[in-house]
Amino acid sequence: MKKIVISTGGGDAPGLNAVIYAVVRSCYKRGWEVYGSRSGYKGLLDLDELVRLEIADVDGIYSMGGTIIGSTNKGEPFNMPIKNLAGEIQVVDVSDKILRNFKRMGFDCHIAIGGDGSLEIARKFAEKGMPVIGVPKTIDNDLEATDRTFGFDTAVATATEALDKLHSTAKSHDRVMVVEVMGRDSGWIALYSGISGGADVILIPEIPFDMEKVCEKIMDNALREKDYAIVVVAEGATALGGEVISKGSGELGRSEVLLGGIGEWVASEIRERTEKDTRSLVLGHLQRGGSPTTFDRLLAMRFGAAAVRLVEKGEFGHMVALASPHMSSVPLEDAVKSRKKVDMQSDKVLTARDIGICLGD
Ligand code: F6P
Repeated sequence: MKKIVISTGGGDAPGLNAVIYAVVRSCYKRGWEVYGSRSGYKGLLDLDELVRLEIADVDGIYSMGGTIIGSTNKGEPFNMPIKNLAGEIQVVDVSDKILRNFKRMGFDCHIAIGGDGSLEIARKFAEKGMPVIGVPKTIDNDLEATDRTFGFDTAVATATEALDKLHSTAKSHDRVMVVEVMGRDSGWIALYSGISGGADVILIPEIPFDMEKVCEKIMDNALREKDYAIVVVAEGATALGGEVISKGSGELGRSEVLLGGIGEWVASEIRERTEKDTRSLVLGHLQRGGSPTTFDRLLAMRFGAAAVRLVEKGEFGHMVALASPHMSSVPLEDAVKSRKKVDMQSDKVLTARDIGICLGD
């Protein structure tokens, strides 16, 4: 009999509930107990925020977006900023308390579902002696150690559907529509949705772009009697010699800057340089919402069940990973070593170029 605690950390991604579903069901099949730590580590810090998860609690949740136990991308337990009574911010390390509570509850393993930030925290807990298994989540698909993260396929489907809808309005008004998508420092969402959604231009962080080339492509469209264009810009894309556009760190305890604004910048440059009627929109958190696609559900369930098999084998300090077509596992330190970038030689990049999409270079 084992007692497992699960947490979901970082930005949510479609498929989180499907992982929880698979973990809970795989554990109960073995006669084990499962608890959920609300909002990342909050439940392990304050035991009132721990919830027992029974089979009935997860009934049907695999098709739901979000996470039934909540998530957060603020408040790293090893460096948690807390406001004292005088209103000053103090950074405290609450990891010892979390580890004490973990032992006090008699947990055998923590299954941490998260992206690079949450998996780095999981790695530090593993180093401190907590038996941890990681599960890779992020719509950005930027974890090197797994072929795919769950959430990405759904985000791409949402962005592609938006592009499909934009074609008719762009065409009716002879307009350029610039669409900013998520993905942080990687261009996966932009590239996959841009190709699938018939974009004319795709700008990704891996290729600093030249506005001249972008405008040439738009004017070339016009010469060929296509008076509208669709431009997809990844939030982390930069102009040649330019910098990433961000809104600062935003909230207290958030470790990464909030990206955004490059879409509007590109739109205003196009407007000025080509005199074309241009509009921009930011797809934002729409890409994180909704029901996971079949691909993401299945991947999430495979990850969840594989995580429980790792617990059974005692392979702690590892993250489950997809090494297509198989499930595998990698040490947590390898999982967080580097971020996965779009490979310039990949056939997706070659496809984009072959079918005449401008990548800004
Ligand atoms: O990492 C997932 C992600 O959606 C990024 O693509 C995006 O930059 C960020 O999270 C947004 O974070 P928040 O939910 O805090 O606005």
